[in-house]
Amino acid sequence: MTVLGLGAMGSALAGALLAAGRPVTVWNRTPGRADALVAAGVTEAGSVAEAVGASPLVVACLWDHRSVHETLDPVADALAGRTVVNLTNGTPGQGRELGAWAHEHGFALLDGGIMAVPPMIGTPAAFVLYSGPEEAFDVHRAALDAFGESRFVGTDHGMAALYDIALLSAMYGSIMGELHAFAMVRSAGVPAVEFAPLLQRWTTAVGGFHERTAELVDARDYTRDVVSNLGMQAAAYHNLIDAAHEQGVSPELLAPLHALMLRRTAEGHGHEDTVGLIELLLTRR
Ligand SMILES: NC(=O)c1ccc[n+]([C@@H]2O[C@H](COP(=O)([O-])OP(=O)(O)OC[C@H]3O[C@@H](n4cnc5c(N)ncnc54)[C@H](OP(=O)(O)O)[C@@H]3O)[C@@H](O)[C@H]2O)c1
Repeated sequence: MTVLGLGAMGSALAGALLAAGRPVTVWNRTPGRADALVAAGVTEAGSVAEAVGASPLVVACLWDHRSVHETLDPVADALAGRTVVNLTNGTPGQGRELGAWAHEHGFALLDGGIMAVPPMIGTPAAFVLYSGPEEAFDVHRAALDAFGESRFVGTDHGMAALYDIALLSAMYGSIMGELHAFAMVRSAGVPAVEFAPLLQRWTTAVGGFHERTAELVDARDYTRDVVSNLGMQAAAYHNLIDAAHEQGVSPELLAPLHALMLRRTAEGHGHEDTVGLIELLLTRR
């Protein structure tokens, strides 16, 4: 296997392949980042062409879509007949573009999304999403399993990035709430560590109802079993904004949801579940 890119994630991927007993060749734009891996048995290539030539499976874990093209474009002809697994974060459109480009050059492209941080790689906590040609996934699955659970999510090259971005969006939503909550208590001089157990308890109690939400989303029916209607929540949400102002905390992380709540309520959906806000997000239907 070849791994292009030895940042925090690429190094973890190369290490996991090595730990799984695979021969590993690596390349990194800036030399000197492979030393620990080389000491452990990895081969360092002197150029991208040499690295690509060493293996039928080439994993790219670089900075962004542009750096993937900067690295692979000059060796596109040498990729013919191989499989490239792109684990660089990107958009669905970028995944599709890479897939079409791979097709033009006669190689298979699996686009992926790593749902883990580097220390999780190679543990059961990690999962990696893949999309593209299913035969290529089947052929290389055993090797890819070294990173964590391998999940194939579709032959459309954009699907892995779509799932990845959706999952990351949910994560960042949680981070926004967490940061705002800590800012509120800090504004009153409360140590974050004192508040953290309550935050943990509360987010565990009110989070994780994704399956119920999903049922409403799929049914496009937001009137079922409503226990906390949108109108009531929109009214209470004013207090979140006002309290932030009172405490000298910026409400900018809270404001976008408030705007959606007010719009949806004004459109006559105040009696419905908050899940109905999704209708305002889907601007292209
Ligand atoms: N770390 C995470 O928690 C995590 C989790 C999931 C997904 N990812 C994704 O994994 C990818 C890599 O992340 P990372 O944490 O390894 O980042 P990182 O530690 O900052 O490493 C970035 C890597 O990209 C290389 N690079 C940057 N620009 C380049 C260019 N123009 N041409 C060739 N190589 C270039 C760097 O090479 P140099 O050494 O030469 O600068 C380095 O190897 C990103 O797309 C990231 O979103 C990361």
